[in-house]
Amino acid sequence: MTIVTLQIDGKIVGAREGDTVLHAARSAGVDIPALCHLEGLTDVGSCRLCLVEVGDGKPMTPACVTAVAEGLDVRTDTERLRFHRRTVVELMFAAGNHACAVCVANGDCELQDAAVAVGMDHVGFEYQHKPLTVDVSHELFGVDHNRCILCTRCVRVCDEIEGARTWGVSGRGADARVATDLDQPWGDSPTCTSCGKCVMACPTGALFHRGDTVSGIDHRRDRLASLIAAREHKPWP
Ligand code: FES
Repeated sequence: MTIVTLQIDGKIVGAREGDTVLHAARSAGVDIPALCHLEGLTDVGSCRLCLVEVGDGKPMTPACVTAVAEGLDVRTDTERLRFHRRTVVELMFAAGNHACAVCVANGDCELQDAAVAVGMDHVGFEYQHKPLTVDVSHELFGVDHNRCILCTRCVRVCDEIEGARTWGVSGRGADARVATDLDQPWGDSPTCTSCGKCVMACPTGALFHRGDTVSGIDHRRDRLASLIAAREHKPWP
C-alpha cells in the first residue's frame, strides 16, 4: 500500500494512494458536506456539494471524485466555496418541493442538514417546481418525485449492493427522474426484491416506507451502513 502526503487546510495528512480527497479529509477529521456520496457505493460526483479548491490555480473540484496525490494542496473552507455550496443547496430547494414541515423525513433529512450546515436562511432563486407524481403502488414503499434531488443513491445501492438493478434514471435535464424498471409503477416491478435498501439510502423523504413516521425512519442510514459493510441481502422487516 502506497501512502501519499497532502495538505488539507494547511494540515499535513497521509492517505492511501487511490483514496478520494473526501475520504482523506474525513479521515483527518475535516468535514466536507456531501449529498450524493454514500460510503461503500461508487461515487458519481453529481450533487457538487463537496466542492474543494485544489492546487495553485485553485480550481474547484468535487472532493468525492478527486483522487489524492502527493503534495496536493486542498482548501475546504473558503469564502468562494461557502458561496458555491450555499448556491447548490438553494438550487436544490428551488428545483423541488422541500417543505420540511410536512415531510416524513423532517428531522432526519440530509438536505435539511446541508441547508443548516451551509447557513441557508432563504432561497434566492425563483421556485421551478412543477408538481410531480407520488407513486405508492408498491405495498411497502412509496416514491415522491417532488422531494427527489437525483443523487442516484437508490440507483447505486440497488445495483451495487442488492444486485437487483430495479432503479435507473429516465429522461434528461430538468425532466430526469429516478424510475423503476424503465418507468413502470414500482408496484409492478418484476425485479424489486422489497429489500428496502433504496429507502434507507435516500437522503431526503423522496423514498419512504409506507408505515413511516418521522421517528420511524430514524437510524435507517445507520442500518444501511452495516448492510453495506456486511454485503447482506436481507428483506425489509
Ligand atoms: Fe461529491 Fe455529491 S458528494 S459531488
